[in-house]
Amino acid sequence: MKNDIARILFTREEIAEKVKYLANQIKSAYGDKNPLILCILKGSLIFTADLVRELDFPCTIDFMQVSSYGSSSETTGKLKIKKDMDSDVNGRDVIIVEDILDTGVTLSNLFPEIKRRGAKSVALCVFLNKPERRTVEVKADYIGFDIENEFVIGYGLDYDERYRNLPYVGVLKRSVYEK
Ligand code: XMP
Ligand code: MG
Repeated sequence: MKNDIARILFTREEIAEKVKYLANQIKSAYGDKNPLILCILKGSLIFTADLVRELDFPCTIDFMQVSSYGSSSETTGKLKIKKDMDSDVNGRDVIIVEDILDTGVTLSNLFPEIKRRGAKSVALCVFLNKPERRTVEVKADYIGFDIENEFVIGYGLDYDERYRNLPYVGVLKRSVYEK
């Protein structure tokens, strides 16, 4: 796997430090709210696992797998729910945890769905943010790192379902996806 990485963007240590920083921010806002931590599969599996272990207050965890469909020329689409959560979000403070905020289409479709189900509040925590790629405005409440418009893998992020288990975030060599 290592040979496929052009360069490392964030090391294990840098990630751990950032996760602690984000958890501290969340703690001060949610310490007495018993929030629902909503992990968006599959990419944010590892980020969520690390983040919740830094939260020292009551919370519950659930999972959703979503994407958006519609033609690629559209800036909006419809939410496609591949796996739904079990939790009832009615009256809950929900924190959506996502690996990367790219065009924003997926999250802009997910937000109204969580609100429609009666959530008291919905916040967004993203590990990575690619501001250049945004086509729909999405407000993230907690952001780990802003990155350039490069395809990144590791720490949950995949290329063709691979590399999710890398403990760091790296840029994939072009030769991997151009061959
Ligand atoms: P939006 O709707 O914001 O979707 O465009 C974000 C989703 O796009 C995927 N994505 C990436 N996945 N490396 C990845 O492994 C990347 O650099 C990358 N950029 C976008 C990802 O699935 C995310 O949830
Ligand atoms: Mg992916």
